[in-house]
Amino acid sequence: MNANVVSHGAAVNIRRATVADAEALAQIGARTFFETFAADNTPEDMRMFLTSTWRPDLQRAEILDPGLDTLLACDAGGALAGFAQLRVAHPPTGIAVRSPVELKRFYVDKPWQGRGLARTLMEAAEQAARARGAREFWLGVWERNERAQAFYRKCGFRKVGTQIFVVGTDPQTDNVMLRELE
Ligand SMILES: CC(C)(COP(=O)(O)OP(=O)(O)OC[C@H]1O[C@@H](n2cnc3c(N)ncnc32)[C@H](O)[C@@H]1OP(=O)(O)O)[C@@H](O)C(=O)NCCC(=O)NCCS
Repeated sequence: MNANVVSHGAAVNIRRATVADAEALAQIGARTFFETFAADNTPEDMRMFLTSTWRPDLQRAEILDPGLDTLLACDAGGALAGFAQLRVAHPPTGIAVRSPVELKRFYVDKPWQGRGLARTLMEAAEQAARARGAREFWLGVWERNERAQAFYRKCGFRKVGTQIFVVGTDPQTDNVMLRELE
């Protein structure tokens, strides 16, 4: 995958990550998570989550994992503007699926939010999910993350259940959202 697309007048390139991207991926992941969720979590829970999730060695392993697709959206200068990660995985018990792929992470850097890049990245993610044989595309999103839920609804996802996602020591409720890909 290597697509040059225009997102609200700005050129954006969607490509697969390589190990050379591990550090930049760790940075944008930690920064975006912090900017989005710091106000709603204790500093200690944030610290625990960030240090256990966003480190160049961890992102390097993710990029090398053949079971995980890591797609990057880069601006005209090559800087990372957003990313998506997806894998074959089942949603929680009780949600009927045939061939599910999980959108594990989907982040757009703050300066690019609200500018159409998220839609472009989602289209690339869907294409990658189809390439893995997906008939259902699903994700977990914090029940209090209204902006992300509004975006996912615009993309055709609907709420089908809930699951627990632990931030530091805090078990939080994620809404599980799904869309069929036929
Ligand atoms: C979630 C994310 C990818 C969406 O991308 P985006 O560019 O912000 O999405 P859009 O602006 O196209 O759509 C968001 C919608 O939510 C609306 N919105 C904005 N703030 C909102 C809020 N506080 N409450 C409800 N809706 C809100 C916007 O108006 C927009 O709807 P509209 O197009 O009808 O006006 C991006 O915001 C992001 O990466 N956020 C930080 C990380 C994150 O939360 N990732 C998802 C984890 S599951």
